[in-house]
Amino acid sequence: MTTIRPLTSADADALLDLTDYAFIADPGRPWRDSLLEQVDFDNTFGAFRDGEQVGGYLFYDLTMAEPGPLGTVRAQPLPGLSWVTVHPDHRRRGVLSTMIRHHLADLRERGAAWSGLTASDPRIYGRFGYAVATLNVRYRVRQGARLDTPEPVARAADDVTVRTLFAIDDDATAARLRAITLEGAATALGVLTWPERKERGHLRDVPASRRDLEPLHALVATRGGRDVGAVVYRRTSDWPQQPPNGRLEVQWMTALDAGATLALGRRLVAEELVEQVVLPDRGLDDPLLWWAGGPRGAEPTVSDGLWLRPVDVGAALSRRGYAAPCDVSVQIADPTCPWNERRWRLVVGDDGVGRCEPAEGSGTADVEAPVQALGAVHLGLRGWAALAAAGEVVEHRPGAIAELGRAFATSVAPVGGLEF
Ligand SMILES: CC(C)(COP(=O)(O)OP(=O)(O)OC[C@H]1O[C@@H](n2cnc3c(N)ncnc32)[C@H](O)[C@@H]1OP(=O)(O)O)[C@@H](O)C(=O)NCCC(=O)NCCS
Repeated sequence: MTTIRPLTSADADALLDLTDYAFIADPGRPWRDSLLEQVDFDNTFGAFRDGEQVGGYLFYDLTMAEPGPLGTVRAQPLPGLSWVTVHPDHRRRGVLSTMIRHHLADLRERGAAWSGLTASDPRIYGRFGYAVATLNVRYRVRQGARLDTPEPVARAADDVTVRTLFAIDDDATAARLRAITLEGAATALGVLTWPERKERGHLRDVPASRRDLEPLHALVATRGGRDVGAVVYRRTSDWPQQPPNGRLEVQWMTALDAGATLALGRRLVAEELVEQVVLPDRGLDDPLLWWAGGPRGAEPTVSDGLWLRPVDVGAALSRRGYAAPCDVSVQIADPTCPWNERRWRLVVGDDGVGRCEPAEGSGTADVEAPVQALGAVHLGLRGWAALAAAGEVVEHRPGAIAELGRAFATSVAPVGGLEF
């Protein structure tokens, strides 16, 4: 039988051994301390069989930018499941299934509305009720690319000063970058923020772990003395090439408005000895992507970003804001979390504030949906009508899907979020 218990710092070595093996990490682990700095042992668990640790997981206290009422965006707490590992000698015997059930029951006790994750393999988590909620758009902009923006944006960028920070592994710089991250937490649907300890760990400069790469640098954008954006990045160079074809990889970028985005974008594409600038974790509506010429100019590639599943359907749908009123009953199927498996009624007023409660009543609900549907539509990636067309949800009352579609409507594609 598999049992789960919280881990403590005394379990750190076993946890790292298991995690390194599972994710094919360097056994030398030179960055062990910065990895452990990111672990919060209040949120870290181990799976045991006959006294042996056979698995582990933790979750991060993230924030997620989700729809507020009537087109607004709000940063809300999101537990982010991570470090999910099962010992290679104990795989395919249900250890992961036990850990996920434990995680969701634990989150329910803690009062969480949603659980999120980024998946190593897209075949693992759908069975547990998770669905892809954002697309992670990665694109590249060539050095010297023209960023074609409307005139007011260009004027707003002219007021922005951009400064380069060569070294960023010190507490004062980390705190400054953290403040910009938090200010940008609700700038677009899908934006995620890490907990402070994880963000700090990422900025640690551990030469052995970066191998032939340079240390991280940052650009900070200010307007009128106030920070309005930042990019953390590192470059690789290829000197013998003529012309030089180095590459600048953005780690993360936050900009509080379009002018700040443009000012930072201009600096990135002006970087010398660099042939291309790569931006990960962006969205299909990313302004820089379109200013750089869209798909043909920036060669985007798309993969799954954030996966979401409600911990508690009532809490998850009551916390979200809506674009239009509705009154719809939905029969949810959720074998992993039986407390969700019932009929729910979502009522939204003209103010875009919703209330989702268990509904009584006989006869069929207006709509039947697996719990995965709620993750898929939450940030606006997929629409109710698209799910109905694909047979993933079923409409029993004509007009109910259109009503849900209007209520859940968003007008900007969500961004990919962050890896965690
Ligand atoms: C992925 C991993 C955690 C699965 O653990 P596990 O204990 O073997 O999983 P379970 O036995 O509980 O499997 C539950 C179900 O998921 C399926 N499944 C698990 N991992 C899978 C995978 N990688 N691909 C396809 N199906 C998978 C199992 O076949 C099983 O299906 P079933 O219910 O139809 O029988 C484990 O293989 C592992 O540690 N992998 C390396 C690290 C990793 O990728 N972690 C995930 C990080 S996001």
